[in-house]
Amino acid sequence: MPAPLDRASLLAWYDAHRRDLPWRRTSDPYAIWVSEIMLQQTRVETVVPYYERFLARFPDPASLAAADEDEVLSRWSGLGYYRRARLLHRGAREVVAQYGGEVPRDAEARRGLPGVGRYTAGAIGSIAFGLEEPVVDGNVARVLSRALGIDTPLGQAATERALWDAATDLVRGPRPGDLNQALMELGARVCTPKRPTCLVCPWREACVARADGRVEALPVPRKKAAPRPVSLVAVVATRGRGELALLRGEGALFGGLYGVPTAEGQGREAARRALRESGVRARLEPAARGRLEHVLSHRRLDVEVWRASAAVASAPAALHARGALDEVGISRLTRKILCAAEGSPGADA
Ligand code: ADE
Repeated sequence: MPAPLDRASLLAWYDAHRRDLPWRRTSDPYAIWVSEIMLQQTRVETVVPYYERFLARFPDPASLAAADEDEVLSRWSGLGYYRRARLLHRGAREVVAQYGGEVPRDAEARRGLPGVGRYTAGAIGSIAFGLEEPVVDGNVARVLSRALGIDTPLGQAATERALWDAATDLVRGPRPGDLNQALMELGARVCTPKRPTCLVCPWREACVARADGRVEALPVPRKKAAPRPVSLVAVVATRGRGELALLRGEGALFGGLYGVPTAEGQGREAARRALRESGVRARLEPAARGRLEHVLSHRRLDVEVWRASAAVASAPAALHARGALDEVGISRLTRKILCAAEGSPGADA
């Protein structure tokens, strides 16, 4: 029978092994908030310099609230997932408008801020305010699934409830912020997805997965929904032979890389809309050039490819030299669209 999960041994391990990260040298709730938003979907090493520059420019909610969105996005540029920056900016404005410029201590109020879900609210509550609020992110879910032997798929209601209940029990007691960060740190450094180093884990004796020889089998990954079919047009708008209209793709479609103008729907009207919404004026060819299919994690794209010439571009698109495509960074989908536009056989590769 494994021993219960013990807070004290986890905290002792954390004290001995924690990384010295800039957001661990502050208890300013705004700084913790910024760090936690940046750390969603982005690695610690990538975040550190962005965090330092962002806080130097926007040291408090008031300075962030006063900035215009373009500047906020440009300071975020390179971190990707720009929706996070927009929501943080809106959140800072709300903190100024509703809470006198101070991130609220009250949990309900924190959770009401744009972009602040249960995880972020819990991280701010525990790390900045010392409140006994749980967090479950990917690292914590892995640690707890293994330690407790939770073997239902991630994302299922019962699994999520079991994880949050366990995190809620564990966070009760001294140093809740450190306890939560110790769980994250253990997941990042020891209880890694592949080849975890169980021999140095403070919970090695208590871990159910280890006792059962199932460490790498847990957690059970979430069940993927079938990709949703989406019809799109993409327009390859050129100027002469050498230039091409591109814009930075928001969201999942181009993964923050550059892409050609696109719009939902198919047919000539949709192609015109793609150009108009991207700020491109160009002469659309009479008929579509081809079609291709591209599967992303949640969507199956059916893309009708159009061509247009004599392009003039204004923001958000701009003309780029064809020879410089590797420098700006284009996605695999963009490559396929360019092949299809040129009618080359790589189109559906
Ligand atoms: N990932 C998310 N939050 C973190 C934190 N506070 N420290 C390290 N990694 C994290």
